[in-house]
Amino acid sequence: MSNETDREIEALFRAAAAARAQAHAPYSRFRVGAAIRGESGHIHVGCNVENAAYPVGTCAEAGAIAAMVAAGDRRITAIAVAGSGPDPCMPCGACRQRIVEFVADDAPVYCFGNDSDDSYRSTVKSLLPSPFSLHRQAAASNEVD
Ligand code: THU
Repeated sequence: MSNETDREIEALFRAAAAARAQAHAPYSRFRVGAAIRGESGHIHVGCNVENAAYPVGTCAEAGAIAAMVAAGDRRITAIAVAGSGPDPCMPCGACRQRIVEFVADDAPVYCFGNDSDDSYRSTVKSLLPSPFSLHRQAAASNEVD
């Protein structure tokens, strides 16, 4: 599942970069695109959508996850994030939690900046160790019962 080939990584990067080009980021001027490979094999994309009321803005990963869920996929097998800066764009803390909801521990997270050659590969597990999850929530509510 997490054995993406270079070609698959390239496909994810291209999809993320195309979504990034659609970003609405007039306030930060930092464009981000995200591409998710779902269990169906489809790639779902999103971009950051900022708002004049700053906290209302949404991250690229949130958009890609919403697109994935609306398309019927429920499992992320790989995700790529492409920011518009020189360094690879790491998912923010809130997006790490969003990703964990739909992902296998060892699923790869590919982080890119402007340059597709300069990527950083991580896993969801290492980006967010010991996450809060449905599993833990269920365990806690069983304890109450
Ligand atoms: N941003 C994302 O879209 N994803 C991240 O994981 C990090 C931050 C966006 C939010 C905001 O529109 C801009 O980048 C600057 O923070």
